[in-house]
Formats: sequence, structure tokens, C-alpha cells
Amino acid sequence: MLDIASIRADAPGVANVRHFNHAGGSLLSARTLKIITGQLEREAGFGAMESQPPAAEAVEVARATAARLLNADASEIAFTSSNSAAYGLALAALPPLQRGQRILVGRQEWGGNLSSFEAKAEAAGATVEQIPCLPDGSVDAGALKHMLDSRVALVALTWAPANGGLLNDAEAVGAALAGSGIPYFVDAAQAIGQIPADVHKIGCDVLTAAGRKYLRGPRGTGLLYVRQGFLDRLNPAYLDVISAPWNKGPQVRPDARRFETAERSLALLMGFGEALRQAEDYGIPAIRQRIQTLSEDLRTRLAGIEGVSIEDLGAIRTGIISFQIRGWQAVEAMQELARRQINVGANGLAYTPFDIGARGLPDLIRASVSYLNTEEELAELVANVHDMSRMR
Ligand SMILES: Cc1ncc(COP(=O)(O)O)c(C=O)c1O
Repeated sequence: MLDIASIRADAPGVANVRHFNHAGGSLLSARTLKIITGQLEREAGFGAMESQPPAAEAVEVARATAARLLNADASEIAFTSSNSAAYGLALAALPPLQRGQRILVGRQEWGGNLSSFEAKAEAAGATVEQIPCLPDGSVDAGALKHMLDSRVALVALTWAPANGGLLNDAEAVGAALAGSGIPYFVDAAQAIGQIPADVHKIGCDVLTAAGRKYLRGPRGTGLLYVRQGFLDRLNPAYLDVISAPWNKGPQVRPDARRFETAERSLALLMGFGEALRQAEDYGIPAIRQRIQTLSEDLRTRLAGIEGVSIEDLGAIRTGIISFQIRGWQAVEAMQELARRQINVGANGLAYTPFDIGARGLPDLIRASVSYLNTEEELAELVANVHDMSRMR
């Protein structure tokens, strides 16, 4: 059981807003904030380089914590500045695409990843193809199996999509690919911190996460997991003194730190380390259970409002709820709720282009629930959406 009262007492933001944008960026704990500012103060007071040694040790503790959360080894974790940075570093390190090769992606693939795939594919004369969905909208791993051939250069899955509420079966995709040698990338930006993760069970080669979302780390942090046996298939797009120290030539590191640079924000990474520590301390299964209870309750209550439609799919769902209010564009609704001290997100085609396009949806309002939320906050969101539904 999570002690929500004491967790909230350490989250200054909950006093100011009803926050339902944890998938955009969550609320830092006071402790995380203090660790970040403490490091910046030491850098200002005593010199940036001189304050490095203890901070660098804390970053290695953070790496070990991140590894435990994913059931990975610390040597398989690199810290980055965002989910996209992690993903882009791994993608750019794959062998160049060849004419006729294929990239297979789930329907809810993150728009930024799709842009990267399509730009690469177009330049090489390769293709980007969608993996079919099961009736509940989630990825059809059985159909994927029939798509596999020697031309497939990459299979990519967004585990918990930005919109649409569902959780894809990342393990089933991993099982479909087992023994094929085809690189398997999982975008877990919205999953890590709310869904228990085990990279061995998933069977992925690469997995990425954002620090600021469900992990409640600071903005400007992310992480990249690369399976040990896959590392040597990746050539980083660029190297530096940490990723490849020069000794009669570049000595590319044998671990995932080949994707890191010497210069990084130690303050942010120390804060990220504290957020990771808290996530481990609370326990992801307990976090998952609370988010499930709150978000299913919120879905049911929003669905009961005349003029509100829930646009979620999936038999297994996350804490991300996508909906529309009749007469309101998503951005307008987000602004109106913000005026009432309630934070939600507004998402358009660019976030999940294939899914939004296939379903012919306009933009969506997104309420993303965390374990930090309370029943009272849910009731406030529901009452305000109800009020707005009667205004137009
Ligand atoms: C599924 C998914 N992948 C990637 C991203 C991008 O993450 P970042 O902004 O950290 O690059 C997002 C952002 O919302 C996302 O929802």
C-alpha cells in the first residue's frame, strides 16, 4: 500500500493544481528538487568541474537503480536528455538501411519515431509498414509473424501509446521475433514508471524512457537500454572522450555508455536518480495498481457525462485517458480547464498519426492519472468536464 498522504506532502505542486498531465510531465518531489538545486549551488559555489566527483558517483547509483527497474544490467543503461534523444541515438547507430528493406511498426507508434523512420526509408528506398491490430486495437503479434522476411530491418513498438489508453503486448511481439535476429525497439516513454517492466521478458534489443513522465524525474532526462549482446551491432553516430577514449585510436566503450557524452547535467541526473529511487521504493506494481483503480474509475465517470466520448481502445489499459467534449476543440478545453487550475493535455495527429488517421479522430483531450492523484481530484475534474459539456 502506498502512503499517498506522505507522498503528496513531498510533492509541492499538488497544492497548486489538480494535475492530470503526468504523461506530459509529472510533478517533482521536493526531495528531487532539493537534490537538483543542491548540485547547482555546489557548482556555482565551488566550480563546475570541482563538484563533479561525488555527483558522478550518484549518477552511477542512479544507473544501477534504472537497471533494476528494467531487470537489466547497469552496463546496458545510458542516460540521455529525453526519450527521443535515446531513441534517435540507437536508431542512428543501426547499419544504414538498404533499398527494399522494411521497417514494421505498431499502429500507435509515436509520431517522432515515425518521422525518423520515414525520412530514413525515403532516403534509402525502403518502406515503413504497419503491423495489423487485434479487434481491441492493440498490436497483433500473430499477424506480425506472417510479415517477417529477410528484408525486415527493424520492428518498432510503442508500448504505452501517447493517445488511446491501451497497452500493447510488447512481450508477444518479442516472442514473435525470438530467434529472428531482427532488431526490436520498444518506445516505453509512457510506460516506465507506471507499468512493471522486464526487458528479458519483453525480449527487446533497445528500450527507451523519458525521465519527466511517470518516473517523475526532471525535464531533460531520459534513458536508453541496449541489450548487452546487441551493443556491438550499434555504431554511435558520434563519439567523445567518454564514449570512446582515444588510445592509439578510438576505444569505443563496451557498454551502453558509448551513447553518453562527458558533458551532461549532473544536477538533473542526480534528480533523476532520486526519482528512480522513489519509484523503486514505492514499487511499480503498487503504483500500477493505484493508477489502474483511479483511471478506470475516471474513464467510467467521464463516459457517463452526456456529450463526452471516451476514445480509448485496448483490453489492457494504462493511466492515459483520451476523450472529447462535444463543442470543444481539445486545445480550447485544455485552456478552459487550466483556467480552473486543472491540468490536462491536448493531442493531435502528430502524436500518433497512424492511429488517429485510421480512426478519423480530430484532436483529443488527454487526462493522464498518477498515483499522486486522489479521488477528490478525480471528482473535481469530472464536475468541471460536466459543467463544460453543458456550456456549448
Ligand atoms: C510514446 C512516446 N514516445 C516518445 C515521446 C517523446 O518523448 P520526449 O519528449 O522525451 O522526447 C512521447 C512524448 O509524449 C511519447 O508519448
